[in-house]
Amino acid sequence: TLQKHIRNFSIIAHIDHGKSTLADRLIQATGGLSDREMKQQVLDSMEIERERGITIKAQTVRLQYKAQDGETYILNLMDTPGHVDFAYEVSRCLAACEGSLLVVDASQGVEAQTLANVYQAIENDHEIVPVLNKIDLPAAEPERVREQIEDVIGIDASEAVMASAKSGIGIDETLEAIVTRLPAPEGDREAPLKAMLIDSWYDTYLGVVVLVRIIDGELKKGQTIKMMAAKSEHYVDRVGIFTPKGVAVDVLGPGEVGFFTASIKEVADTHVGDTITDVRKPCETALPGFKPSRSVVFCGLFPADADDYDHMRDAMAKLRLNDASFEYEPESSAALGFGFRCGFLGMLHLEIIQERLSREFDLDLITTSPSVIYKIHLTDGTMIELHNPADMPDVVRVDHVEEPWINATILVPDEHLGAVLKLCEEKRGIQTDLTYAGNRAMVKYRLPLNEVVYDFYDRLKSVSRGYASFDYDFDVYEESDLVKMSILVNAEPVDALSMLVHRSAAESRGRALCERLKDLIPRQLFKIPIQAAIGGKVIARETISALRKDVTAKCYGGDVTRKKKLLEKQKKGKARMRMYGKVEIPHDAFIAALKMR
Ligand code: GTP
Repeated sequence: TLQKHIRNFSIIAHIDHGKSTLADRLIQATGGLSDREMKQQVLDSMEIERERGITIKAQTVRLQYKAQDGETYILNLMDTPGHVDFAYEVSRCLAACEGSLLVVDASQGVEAQTLANVYQAIENDHEIVPVLNKIDLPAAEPERVREQIEDVIGIDASEAVMASAKSGIGIDETLEAIVTRLPAPEGDREAPLKAMLIDSWYDTYLGVVVLVRIIDGELKKGQTIKMMAAKSEHYVDRVGIFTPKGVAVDVLGPGEVGFFTASIKEVADTHVGDTITDVRKPCETALPGFKPSRSVVFCGLFPADADDYDHMRDAMAKLRLNDASFEYEPESSAALGFGFRCGFLGMLHLEIIQERLSREFDLDLITTSPSVIYKIHLTDGTMIELHNPADMPDVVRVDHVEEPWINATILVPDEHLGAVLKLCEEKRGIQTDLTYAGNRAMVKYRLPLNEVVYDFYDRLKSVSRGYASFDYDFDVYEESDLVKMSILVNAEPVDALSMLVHRSAAESRGRALCERLKDLIPRQLFKIPIQAAIGGKVIARETISALRKDVTAKCYGGDVTRKKKLLEKQKKGKARMRMYGKVEIPHDAFIAALKMR
């Protein structure tokens, strides 16, 4: 393919503005397989079955388009996720393209994720084609949204494409805009190979599949390549593209996006953003690369039923194969038995893994308080990194504690600025800058990471009605007045609920947690004290009064089946409880109590 006939682009949009629908339409219009047809074909053909893994995980699709100028173009469409936890993945997808389609719902207008994504595209020097989608809706106001794009984002929207991905309007215009308005990739075919590693995943048939964008030179089967950061060498045994199904090709040249396999054992052996070059004719400088993704949030995951431990260990290993950013190691807890200590990119990543374990592997799990990494300096001069509040050494051994801080950038419309500032102050934030971008405020804060991981993103969304966008970088570790707060139920400490909190917040958090548990733990035949304590000192206390619980009491009289159902339900509830001394704490109570921070 001639380089001038290649266009690499991504589609960026706020959730639900129609990104997937538009992508399907573009694939259809250019004669590729739509998602549904693809699945159909995959199921129909044993031959294609082999490629199933790669097609499903493929983040890029190569389309062939015969444009109005009579030339045939290769369009590489890169998919991007849309949450701050995965901002890292968005940035690497955008780094592999020259342009973006900015899809905005013409009935909704610009929203938080529109901005977060478009600013990243601008940072990557993208040419941007606005697409006003859903113009078929009676509530669509394309003119107003066009102006909004110009005012808020500050890009020219005079030639925005009017589209309805659902009704198939504006699809040809979109394809023409990609060809005529987005630049072709630059790059030198004669130069030594230089390619960017965009992604990699594990495929049952092929082993590790590596997705690359060629910058200079050529990648061929039979070549021995070197990964510059990983310092490893591999013999390339397969090179291909996605249409979206995987198809082998002889060579990938500058500007092209495709995959290769090279008998690589584990996804962990590949580093996203690494530079791939030819061993015999290496390029001089590596690409700037990406900072490695690293775990930000840690928590314990335990099987609710101890018999599931082996099954859970297998499930974790399977998930890890395709998700190198998910870390875990075995852990045991007095209250919860054997389980795993796990590391995640953020709270959404944690929820996704939890969801997959429960759905795909049918596991019933208990999750302990999420925690960041604290540095505990002991009186003997040594330092330990603490991932699990339950492991906090005795206070007398602790000299001081350090916690990680971040630099946050928040974009928010003026009318919600007050609420956002209030939230940041409540989270111990220190404001470092406040400027305006169009009619949006751009505010920068230093914040302790432990205040951010729990519910900051959700709270930010709710106080700004979804309009605030948020991004952050790590700053430094700083000494902080943090204390370990334990929760005792019926005088027994529940290690899964212990946490490190700032001393100033300990009492209010302790009280809130005790009140919550009081509502969540069913009454029993005896009184149950619930206490929050720092060291030996109780800082909050609630008591659950004794009561005989008779679930069938509310079924006045005769309905036997209903009575049976209730008893059945109660039995099921029992199975999901755990004993703490004499007290059973329902699974749901853990989840709810752990969520409230
Ligand atoms: P996420 O995958 O959640 O990020 O959303 P998305 O941006 O990919 O949106 P998706 O394509 O799933 O579309 C969201 C909803 O909008 C779906 O119910 C679509 O059917 C609908 N939709 C997409 N395009 C149009 C359109 O042009 N007109 C109308 N009326 N509805 C549309």
